[in-house]
Amino acid sequence: MDKFDAIVIGSGPGGYVCAIKLAQLGVNVACVEGNASLGGTCLNVGCIPSKALLNASHNYHNSIENFSKMGIEVERPSVNWSKMLSYKDAMIKDNTKGIEYLFKKNKITLINGWASFVDNNTISVNGKNFEADHFVIASGSEATSLNNIKFDEQVIVSSTGALELKKIPEKMIVIGAGVIGLEMGSIYSRLGTEITILEFYDKVLNGMDHDISKNFKSILQKQGFKFHLSSSVSNIAKEKKGVKVTYEERNSNNSYELYADVVLVATGRKPFTENLKLENIGVMINPKGQIETDKNWRTTTKNIFAIGDVTPGPMLAHKAEEEGIAVAEIIAGQAGHVNFEVIPSVVYTDPEVASVGKTENELKEEGIDIKVGKFSFMGNGRAKTVFSNSGFVKVIADSNNDRILGAHIIGPAAGDLIHEICVAMEFGASTEDLARTCHAHPTFSEAVREAALACGVGAIHS
Ligand code: NAI
Repeated sequence: MDKFDAIVIGSGPGGYVCAIKLAQLGVNVACVEGNASLGGTCLNVGCIPSKALLNASHNYHNSIENFSKMGIEVERPSVNWSKMLSYKDAMIKDNTKGIEYLFKKNKITLINGWASFVDNNTISVNGKNFEADHFVIASGSEATSLNNIKFDEQVIVSSTGALELKKIPEKMIVIGAGVIGLEMGSIYSRLGTEITILEFYDKVLNGMDHDISKNFKSILQKQGFKFHLSSSVSNIAKEKKGVKVTYEERNSNNSYELYADVVLVATGRKPFTENLKLENIGVMINPKGQIETDKNWRTTTKNIFAIGDVTPGPMLAHKAEEEGIAVAEIIAGQAGHVNFEVIPSVVYTDPEVASVGKTENELKEEGIDIKVGKFSFMGNGRAKTVFSNSGFVKVIADSNNDRILGAHIIGPAAGDLIHEICVAMEFGASTEDLARTCHAHPTFSEAVREAALACGVGAIHS
């Protein structure tokens, strides 16, 4: 029987990062993966393929909308869909192969197959047993369906099917104005699909700062998105051609029907624990199907840890990575720590949306005396040169000590800009610290500094 110090189950961003960190810390580690390629949802059917298609569709759209404004005359470009999908697949392969290389470099044993627990020191994979002192469950999540309606991944699709459509649909209904719905909707909207979003809440990106939700919805409307908010989808039925979606308006209870070629169900994800036989190790699972852990990611069975989407908290690749590193450190006898107050969240649309820390409403509800500094990208020279000046940076700080408590950005490169605030928050910085830091001109980052200045006597360019 093969024996390791630690076995990580799952090779997504939580699992593979944990395995690499364990190996770097001198732990004899194996990683089990049931899928043919490494990288989990993020690399195979999530972050990476969607970003490839977002990039391709953005460039296509940009060439139509903005090239001639800059004096670049081209014939109207057209989309070669199968080539675009091949480009996406190449990006997946490149990244998943990268993990294979890192596993070899760090001498991590890869076990191919689905793991199930025999007892708390043994797993079985393809009928063969493997032993370890510690296990890390990083088995991820899967898309939830609506009212048990099955995804056929052709007409009724999850994000996985939406990345593989046979052709660009004329009409697509997207259920859920969350991250997946708006990112996938953006891809197809730019490629010419008519997008109709149905959302249960009265806003998009529910949970994000209210100014972001409001501004983002109006930007998306200008891009051609149609919205039915405060609407609850009750049924999806396949038609001879396409699909029929029935929804109820929550305020009136009136029922409506919509037709489209494809419906994307983006109503959330649930933990994936199939095959694991958790009942054999007595690990506690909550009613949402998540594996419960203590603050050190130990499950109720002490030598077994759980991280990432299979546990409570935001389902974000980088949150899983942070937990993977912390758990590796704990297994290696060090102190592992994650600051959950500073986990950024990014929506990779155009413009991008990014957020870290608390929202204005959350802080007000907590009774904290806050000040808010806002700066519009209209006043940012660099944003104007790239036709991307709708949006703003909003920095929120404690009125009493000026400490930064959160930031919410909608605009160009928001997903990169947010990290300046993350670092500032990790160091307990004040808005004055940020405002007194010299920012290169002309950069999008100047908008962050201006928002920090707006927390004081005022921004310069507004
Ligand atoms: P989500 O939880 O972000 O949004 C789902 C939306 O569907 C909610 O607004 C909800 O109100 C709505 N909804 C649910 N049932 C409905 C119904 N019957 N009728 C109408 N609307 C309904 O979930 P999403 O977008 O599927 O994403 C899943 C997870 O993946 C999230 O945790 C997300 O953070 C993560 N993710 C993150 C990405 C990123 O960080 N860029 C990219 C993709 C996914």
